Amino acid sequence: MPQQDCDRKKTTSRLYGRRKGRPLHVRKARLMCELLPQLLIVLKGGTHATVQSFFAKGESAPAWMEIGFGGGEHLAAQAKLHPDVLFIGCEPFINGIASLLDHLEKDAIQNVRIFDNDARLMLDALPHASLDKCFVLFADPWPKKRHAERRFIGPENLDRLARVLKSGALLRLASDHASLIEWMHDCLKEHTEFVCVYAGAEPPPDWVETRYQQKALKAGRQPFFMDYRRK
Ligand SMILES: C[S@@+](CC[C@H](N)C(=O)[O-])C[C@H]1O[C@@H](n2cnc3c(N)ncnc32)[C@H](O)[C@@H]1O
Repeated sequence: MPQQDCDRKKTTSRLYGRRKGRPLHVRKARLMCELLPQLLIVLKGGTHATVQSFFAKGESAPAWMEIGFGGGEHLAAQAKLHPDVLFIGCEPFINGIASLLDHLEKDAIQNVRIFDNDARLMLDALPHASLDKCFVLFADPWPKKRHAERRFIGPENLDRLARVLKSGALLRLASDHASLIEWMHDCLKEHTEFVCVYAGAEPPPDWVETRYQQKALKAGRQPFFMDYRRK
């Protein structure tokens, strides 16, 4: 199964979280062997590849990214709803990738490419002002204070996001962990390049439910949604 080498020199800390879960069922194992190589983004060191070059499409097509797409339900649904948008999904968890592939094949979705590694590498590889929208939904909360630097949304990654998001682009965040919500809100308030356009317990109008959101609701935890615009 393809798994790219992580260029650790480009990131300042290691990727936390698991890459493998349960063994894959036959259908998903087949998708990993047959479909993933067609959709996988392989970064070539030192170059700034445009999103459009991953699709061999015109430079004007809008580009959206989902970081940590989990089982891929949200990414697949957004890609289906927006067939003219080019989507990049970043997710190192193999079982999540297999699950996304399942959605893509079942729904014949063509406008998604997959980066099977740390999203920071993808962000660093993209040219300045590449993305029109980015989703970071129900990111790993790392609730202990001493693990706060492992949270994806923080000063360093906000700088990365500010570089690759176009002026006016949307950064959508969601979480069901009070400490992470507060942390993300504080980090974004401190950052000079983002402005909050929505924060609340009601999902935004164009929201698509994610697996972790369903888990949170089942467990009685209230999800919270935040939209920021890149200035
Ligand atoms: C709690 S899950 C949420 C999954 C999905 N967004 C949802 O709402 O159902 C967080 C996901 O982020 C992924 N993740 C964590 N760090 C990441 C990174 N640096 N780059 C890409 N994905 C990452 C994990 O592998 C995991 O699948």
